[in-house]
Amino acid sequence: GQVLGLEGTAWNVSAALFDDDLVALHSAPYSPPTGGIHPREAAQHHASVMKDVIARVLPEAEQVRAVAFSQGPGLGPCLRTVATAARALALALDVPLVGVNHCVAHVEIGRWATGFADPIVLYASGANTQVIGYLNGRYRIFGETLDIGIGNGLDKFARSHDLPHPGGPVVERLAREGSYLELPYTVKGMDLAFSGLISAAQESSSPLEDVCHGLQETAFAMCVEVTERALAHAGKDEVLLVGGVGANARLQEMLREMCEDRGAAFAVPERTYLGDNGAMIAYTGRIMLEAGVTLPLAESQVRPGYRVDEVEVAWRSDLGE
Ligand code: ATP
Ligand code: FE2
Repeated sequence: GQVLGLEGTAWNVSAALFDDDLVALHSAPYSPPTGGIHPREAAQHHASVMKDVIARVLPEAEQVRAVAFSQGPGLGPCLRTVATAARALALALDVPLVGVNHCVAHVEIGRWATGFADPIVLYASGANTQVIGYLNGRYRIFGETLDIGIGNGLDKFARSHDLPHPGGPVVERLAREGSYLELPYTVKGMDLAFSGLISAAQESSSPLEDVCHGLQETAFAMCVEVTERALAHAGKDEVLLVGGVGANARLQEMLREMCEDRGAAFAVPERTYLGDNGAMIAYTGRIMLEAGVTLPLAESQVRPGYRVDEVEVAWRSDLGE
């Protein structure tokens, strides 16, 4: 049977139906007119497109068994808009709700899309930068950013140079034309920090292409270092890259090289499943439902600070890990 999933933690409102495979997916991204994402404006966007996004997948609905939604982490007003729609749908369809952790969903759809069983995951997105791995019933955070997410850092840098949003793809394009420039590299233990690097890049008077090149090399080398150490520490042999920044060809190349050196496998899901999307919520909702995990309406309040390691990964207990 199908599960209907709703995503809307930040910039994208997206609905999907997942059965044994993806049945339907429709998204309505929000692009801020200027500057960063304002939570209330984004939530207004979400509310205005929600009905249409859901209506686009409903014609494919058949025996929907649950409604899954991204319960957190994310922007409070956006999360509340999505949760309200999910509750209404669950009541209308008379099916249970499943509350999905957005980060867990990135990992699970990534495993599904690549066939990886037990990877170390580099989750590099706008708001998040974490190195995650499964251990004793939970997705543990081996290391993470201590300040901003790598994608938001790239977006902020781009904005300071009046480049269009999102900044990641623009920086990637410019970086190809530039040569290496040294910028501050910050790894503390297993954690990372990007704000010093971003400030230094913003203040640099070197040619923009060189700054973009140096910024990418530095930020990605930091991510690769922590991923490599997590891989060695956990004794795993797969590396999975997820999150919107995972679209970056240079980041993929650097991770692939590290994995080749260590004899580990590397994979990145196809674009549809990389950034925020409803399919990852519907898919994760479905495997949670199969493991008997549903969410009573009374406990369906949103969780803006929901961390990946708070989730009991009941659906993987069969691995006996
Ligand atoms: P999360 O809620 O998981 O933090 P998010 O809402 O920020 O995610 P994602 O779709 O996972 O959304 O990621 C968006 C980010 O990805 C943006 O910051 C954008 O600049 C960045 N990005 C997209 N394409 C590229 C690219 N080619 N290179 C680098 N960054 C990219
Ligand atoms: Fe995301």
